[in-house]
Amino acid sequence: MYVAKYKSKVVSPEEAVKVVKSGNRVWLQANSCYPKVLEHAMCDRYQELNDVEVAHITIFEKPRYLEPEMEGHFRHNALFTSGHVRKAVNEGKADFTPIFLSEISTIIERGILPIDVAFLHLSCPDVHGYCSYGVSNAISKTAAENAKIVVAQLNPQMPRVHGDNFIHIDRIDRIVDVDEPLIEVPMVDPNVTEEDKKIYRRIGELIAGMIKDGDTLQMGIGAIPDAVLNYLTEKNDLGIHTEMFSDGLIDLVEKGIVNGDKKTLLPGKIVASFVIATKKTFDFVNNNPIVEFRPTKFVNDPFIIARNDNMVSINSALQVDFTGQACSDSIGHRIYSGFGGQVDFIRGASKSKNGRPILAFASTAKNHTISKIVDTLTPGAGVTTSKADIHYVVTEYGIADLYGKTIRQRARALIDIAHPKFRDELEQKAKEYKYLW
Ligand code: COA
Repeated sequence: MYVAKYKSKVVSPEEAVKVVKSGNRVWLQANSCYPKVLEHAMCDRYQELNDVEVAHITIFEKPRYLEPEMEGHFRHNALFTSGHVRKAVNEGKADFTPIFLSEISTIIERGILPIDVAFLHLSCPDVHGYCSYGVSNAISKTAAENAKIVVAQLNPQMPRVHGDNFIHIDRIDRIVDVDEPLIEVPMVDPNVTEEDKKIYRRIGELIAGMIKDGDTLQMGIGAIPDAVLNYLTEKNDLGIHTEMFSDGLIDLVEKGIVNGDKKTLLPGKIVASFVIATKKTFDFVNNNPIVEFRPTKFVNDPFIIARNDNMVSINSALQVDFTGQACSDSIGHRIYSGFGGQVDFIRGASKSKNGRPILAFASTAKNHTISKIVDTLTPGAGVTTSKADIHYVVTEYGIADLYGKTIRQRARALIDIAHPKFRDELEQKAKEYKYLW
């Protein structure tokens, strides 16, 4: 029955995007589910459209709507600022909304961020008429369920991923058939230097020492959280409850190191919301019953995260000051990324029985010329993780355990894991502020 329905909804991309009107807000699915065909077809109509807001989180395609001639026709609202939109956000040509990833659904559901049209990129319908949100659920299920109109490009190459990750064909208003490979995003930066590799290895080893058999892990975005996975080969019975994962996880599953046996919430399941990965991971998640994708309003909810005993969250930061305040989303006033799930997971892991929230980063940036441990955050750098939320900070020089500690103890512990060449300078500052004496 659904086949006839499906066919009746199939139109050309040009026809499908006619539903977008001036002044609308259009939600675009993220990551490797970016609905490029629909986005391009909408941009072809730019001269007919004004003040259309285009909202989404992480993307890995260069969007057409940011091309110079589109100004005034489309404006981007970044709920997480990834590489392709960073310049526009910092030049004032696009907007940024600071928000926890767990709560983007809240602002959609409460009508603070109402969605007129949702553009999706889905798997083809199964025998029951259900299409999967594929490799990126995140906010898209919430956006589609709250949008006035849903337009989807269906792709036979989109994996069918299990979990609360499906939409019925009845809920889709217009369909465009596409057949194209997904964009692949390797986590390993090809430009990483041998020296940086050594730093990642040291941090990976330190964090591996903090992880116990039976722990449930979250790995955040960035080079370090992913690198940690390489150092877990001696562990047993690990579980996963994470907003995202990448290729590094697959080997641990195949070796039986990650099996979810000891998880206290959804045992046996790899609970996630999206992947930032390559075909290796796309093939792994396809029709794999151990993979459970759910919206971030579930996966990132700190109360849900906390139901996993022994929850270890591993995230990264750009700067941490003496008091333990971490900035992870901007370099001074320059917006770099967003809150993502950092605070969601730090709070969830903090409330978990035997939980351990970790922030890990190389001690220096910009070819070792800048210390990431600072006396004061750079003006414009806001607090992502507050000093009351922070627990463990890890650099290649060691582990600082800040939770429940005084400012004096924090300053001491952080200076001790700063790069040695900055320690005297930091110590002077700490004395000036009367944090140390
Ligand atoms: N001062 C100036 N520049 C700095 C800096 C500092 N203190 N720290 C980092 N940088 C620069 C780096 O040199 C690099 O510059 P480049 O792009 O020109 O090479 C850039 O900022 C990124 O730094 P890097 O340390 O390589 O970042 P990363 O890719 O490892 O990601 C975060 C780290 C913090 C940006 C990333 O984890 C993030 O966005 N976190 C917030 C959201 C989050 O944690 N979500 C978790 C759940 S997904």
